[in-house]
Amino acid sequence: MVRVLMVCLGNICRSPLAEGILKSKTNPENVFVDSAGTGSYHIGEQPDRRSIAVAKTHHLDITGQRCRQFTVEDFDNFDWIYVMDNANKRDVLALARDENDRAKVKMILNEIFPGENVDVPDPYYGGEFGFENVYTLLDKACTQIAKKLNNG
Ligand code: 4NP
Repeated sequence: MVRVLMVCLGNICRSPLAEGILKSKTNPENVFVDSAGTGSYHIGEQPDRRSIAVAKTHHLDITGQRCRQFTVEDFDNFDWIYVMDNANKRDVLALARDENDRAKVKMILNEIFPGENVDVPDPYYGGEFGFENVYTLLDKACTQIAKKLNNG
C-alpha cells in the first residue's frame, strides 16, 4: 500500500480536490489517499461549496471529506506528501524531523512543470473560474502521479 497525503492551507479548497481526483485515478487496494491543511481555521468542516461544485461537474463526490490539520505524525503515516504551494511547503518542512521526512515533501505541480516550483493558486478569495483552473491543474498533476503509482 502506497500512502499519499495532499496538503494545502485550509484543507477545504485545493487539497480536497487533489484527494478526490487522485482517488478517482487509483485503486484503493493499492493506494491510500488523504488530505490535510497546515492551518486550523476549518477543522471538521466539509470542503468549500465551490470545490464540491467543481468536483461535481467532473462527476466526483467529495462531500464525505472533513477538514483536518497536518500533524508531525503524518510523516510516519504517509510515503508522499504533495503540497499545493511554496507556503505549504515551508510550513510542512518546518515540522520535519529529519532528512527522511523532508524527502517525502513534493510540490504537486512539479509533476507537470518539473523543477519549476509553481504554486496551485489559492482560489479561496477568487471566483468560480479559479476553481475550474485549480481542477484542471490538479487533474493533470494527478494523472502523472497515478501513472507512477499504478506502474509501481
Ligand atoms: P485551501 O484554501 O488552502 O485551498 O483550502 C484556503 C481556504 C481557507 C483559507 C485559506 C485558504 N482561510 O484562510 O480560511
